[in-house]
Amino acid sequence: MKHLLSIESMSREDIELILARSAVWKRERGVTSQRPLAGQTWAMIFAKASTRTRVSFEVGVHELGGRPLFLNAGDIQLGRGEPVKDTARVLGRMVHGAIIRTYGQSEVEEFAEFSRIPTVNALTDTEHPCQILTDLFTIQEKLGDLAGRTVTFIGDGACNVPTSWVFAAARLGFHLRVAAPRAYQPFADVLARAGVEVMVTEDVAAASRGADVLYTDVWVSMGREAEAAHRLQELTGYQIDDETVARANPGALVMHCLPAYRGKEIAESTFETHAATIFDQAENRLHVQKAILEWLVT
Ligand code: CP
Ligand code: NVA
Repeated sequence: MKHLLSIESMSREDIELILARSAVWKRERGVTSQRPLAGQTWAMIFAKASTRTRVSFEVGVHELGGRPLFLNAGDIQLGRGEPVKDTARVLGRMVHGAIIRTYGQSEVEEFAEFSRIPTVNALTDTEHPCQILTDLFTIQEKLGDLAGRTVTFIGDGACNVPTSWVFAAARLGFHLRVAAPRAYQPFADVLARAGVEVMVTEDVAAASRGADVLYTDVWVSMGREAEAAHRLQELTGYQIDDETVARANPGALVMHCLPAYRGKEIAESTFETHAATIFDQAENRLHVQKAILEWLVT
């Protein structure tokens, strides 16, 4: 039984296989007659808001021949305190797979264990593996091989997206830099578990110099709203703007997992100049997640 719970738990071979199949699903969209989820129903349990992940998985499951069943966590008994493991045992008897967006990483792990159906982490507080697989695919599509490339993450370096980047760097061997204020730098235990050298600094200029990819994410992740005012203050300056881009390599990609808050983690003009890349990145969620679903059932 395969699950996609984190980048940390993936092998390099599986990542490479998914990236290779993503290119095929992208090229053959609307052409191929392959339906690896034919006759299946996949539950999508979301406890947090989503635009890209929800739409790309609903469309992706459908295009693979399956039926997505969207369940707002607040509308099912889970939201009234039914344990994750009981929800998992019920759904495991009725549906063929589950895609879960929630808070604790332990919730998706528990669901996977008790449901005994393929389970996907569609974002937790700890990791966002579907996003990072998509980002790796997008970089390969635009720059070719990742080997030797430098990816610089600027902003809140302690949330789910940069954590998944750290584990991706450990698997694929590109250079990762994180520019963040001290309290927002990747957790020491994440760096230790990954066992990869990451340049971690408060110096945005130093981290951007010679980068091939500049990447950012929101300063206030879902669930952190109460800290918003404090975060906006502390993260000021940790923005991708035109000056940052000028320090990076010529032709460097500017990427954002979205949603974007202009004037916060990214400047308006920088966002619009690089919108083609950023929205290709968003579109690629669909293609890569079809490859993930296929990988889970084959
Ligand atoms: N990037 C991402 O996961 O977007 P959503 O929150 O809209 O799904
Ligand atoms: N770090 C962000 C990612 C959104 C896709 C969050 O968790 O809200």
